Amino acid sequence: MSMNISIIGTGYVGLCTGVGFAKMGNNVICMDVDEKKIKQINKAEPPIYEKQLKKYLENVTAKGVFRATTDLTRAITNSDLTMICVGTPSNQDGSMDLRYIEQVSKDIGTALKNKEGYHVIVVKSTVVPGTTEINVIPHLEEKSGKGVGDDIGVCVNPEFLREGNALEDFLNPDRIVIGQYDKRSGDVLEKIYFNFNAPVLRTNLKTAEMIKYAANAMLATKISLSNEIGNICKRLGIDVYNVMKGVGMDSRISPKFLRAGAGFGGSCFPKDIAAIVAKGKALGYDTQILNTVLNVNKKQRRILVDMLENRTDGLQNKKIAALGLAFKPDSDDVREAPAIDVISMLKERGAKVSAYDPQAMDNMRKMHGDIEYCSNSRECLKDADGCLILTNWKEFKNLSDKDFDVMKNKVIIEGRKVLNPSSVKNFEGICWPGRLAQSKTEYHKDPRRGVD
Ligand code: UDX
Ligand code: UDX
Repeated sequence: MSMNISIIGTGYVGLCTGVGFAKMGNNVICMDVDEKKIKQINKAEPPIYEKQLKKYLENVTAKGVFRATTDLTRAITNSDLTMICVGTPSNQDGSMDLRYIEQVSKDIGTALKNKEGYHVIVVKSTVVPGTTEINVIPHLEEKSGKGVGDDIGVCVNPEFLREGNALEDFLNPDRIVIGQYDKRSGDVLEKIYFNFNAPVLRTNLKTAEMIKYAANAMLATKISLSNEIGNICKRLGIDVYNVMKGVGMDSRISPKFLRAGAGFGGSCFPKDIAAIVAKGKALGYDTQILNTVLNVNKKQRRILVDMLENRTDGLQNKKIAALGLAFKPDSDDVREAPAIDVISMLKERGAKVSAYDPQAMDNMRKMHGDIEYCSNSRECLKDADGCLILTNWKEFKNLSDKDFDVMKNKVIIEGRKVLNPSSVKNFEGICWPGRLAQSKTEYHKDPRRGVD
């Protein structure tokens, strides 16, 4: 059953969701206040790098089932269901800045004033529990002069899209969470998911909002726990990846999100954990585990730089190659990327930094304009006194001794497990021994020997 859907906000969530629903047979109109973005989208040029997005965008645009506008009233008038996907930035104290959500709710309310028929508003932006009831519904009602539960339906429908895999995640979700104001609102939203092969969980609005935070908190906790275990493993000469392989075989745990290393970045985990910590505090509850999850994550970045400083005998005037800047591979996004803090620390300690990333250099230039950007790994490594690997890009798997031979001193530290030990002789990992060149006798004396 096809439906007319409008999407407000065309960041990676809004755009991928819009293109996805158009691909699933609906008529979609996207709206954003950013004129430049809208122009690009209407030319079928995605403003972000996301696998498959260009192909799908071209396809749905050509079919005439997808278009973009800066006119919010036009978007609302031409749809029966509206998804709010605007950004939810953080305030200084980590709490959520609800300015955009509130403004958009007012604007939607105004646009609904003269529209006939039942219209469902779906909050897809990640918002702290209680936001839809407190900061969305009253504005919708006041500006439209209509009642939620009568002419207007309201739902919360969190997204679980990973950047870089957003379309794939959209089309193959593990579950669809529908928080509903009332049954009628939920029934309308569930209809647009009728051709998805995933279980649907219907809850109230607050519960759906909390599910998103709890899921991200759980995933971030798995990563920080793996890093903590990894830091102990490092001291024992154990490869934490072999440990976590054994741990992840327990079906109660699952093998996913146990990759130790430089820690998590991105637009969601750091911000969402900080927001739920702040919400807990505002409610008089002092979070313990989540504070530590954030602290361990921050500490990983320092551990990497300390390790390098130790191995290079000080960083003053040393040339350091940073390979990988994006917060994760297949993305040009550097928001909260470990590389940002790592480069700051390297600079503070007197190092000269050269950097290379297949996609994220333009974005990193905005954060660190004063370092050297290189057009490939080898150029970045040339004459370097040390190298840090900060993103597990596939192309780094192909690096070999030949590439690292151009360094002045071959001190290579992996913050992400990516190098191929049969092609690179001498490197070590932040939470694993890596492959350290040593003589045969030394090897047999080494307590680290074994499968690691
Ligand atoms: C955002 C949120 O950050 C995330 O928490 C939520 O789950 C989904 O939406 P993302 O798509 O990455 O994620 O955000 P961003 O790239 O900041 O895009 C938001 C878009 O909304 C921007 O294109 C912005 O121009 C637009 N916007 C913002 C509006 O159209 N109107 C506004 O009032 C504010
Ligand atoms: C995340 C959630 O996965 C997604 O459900 C939510 O909607 C948005 O936030 P995303 O930030 O795009 O998605 O990327 P993800 O693949 O989850 O990785 C986040 C960060 O964690 C990256 O920096 C990644 O390198 C790091 N990570 C991930 C680890 O350090 N170890 C792991 O095992 C997994």
